[in-house]
Amino acid sequence: MPAPRDIDCKHVKCVALTFDDGPGAYTSTLLDMLAKRGARATFFVVGQMAARDSKNNLVRMVREGHEIGNHTWSHRQLTAISRSSMKAEIARTQKLIENRTGVRATIMRPPYGSTNRSVTAEARREGLAQILWSVDTKDWRDRDSGVVRRRGAAAKPGSIVLFHDIHRTTVRAVPALLKDLQRKGFTFVTLSELYGRRSLTPGSRYPAGWGKG
Ligand code: NI
Repeated sequence: MPAPRDIDCKHVKCVALTFDDGPGAYTSTLLDMLAKRGARATFFVVGQMAARDSKNNLVRMVREGHEIGNHTWSHRQLTAISRSSMKAEIARTQKLIENRTGVRATIMRPPYGSTNRSVTAEARREGLAQILWSVDTKDWRDRDSGVVRRRGAAAKPGSIVLFHDIHRTTVRAVPALLKDLQRKGFTFVTLSELYGRRSLTPGSRYPAGWGKG
């Protein structure tokens, strides 16, 4: 499987496209689109979605150089459930990703971006950096490919852009979006490539300063 590339995103215009809540009905189409443009992305998968995925999308993601992150088992707000449920939401998804792909995830995204000290402590214990975002396309609300494309194309160097691959309108926006960003000179990188593998610290939140402004 392709290893993370050694790209210096301090000097190269990098953008990290991230797709949450799947895998779903449109994920394999999205993988085709990314492959066509040689673009890598990051998928924050929901465990129960991955468990019922009949197309083996997780294996394909890894094989094609994408990164998989943990987005919990059933998309619960981790700060609103018991500590033991919170731990199980994360651990069960870690196991499933590893069982399916042979790769242990090193990043997670707490649903709704909702985290606190006990989620952070658990992420650290599981070896997971917490990845939020810097560009929110709000594609779950605005089911309009043109809008999603425009918001995604507003990415800046180093942006982490939030999408949801469970929406058809989002996936349909991707070919034109990739074209827009490639024309602007962007390279599509995974999260680990964006930060360089050594600088993602388990438990820490990225991008730096997230939620403080
Ligand atoms: Ni989500």
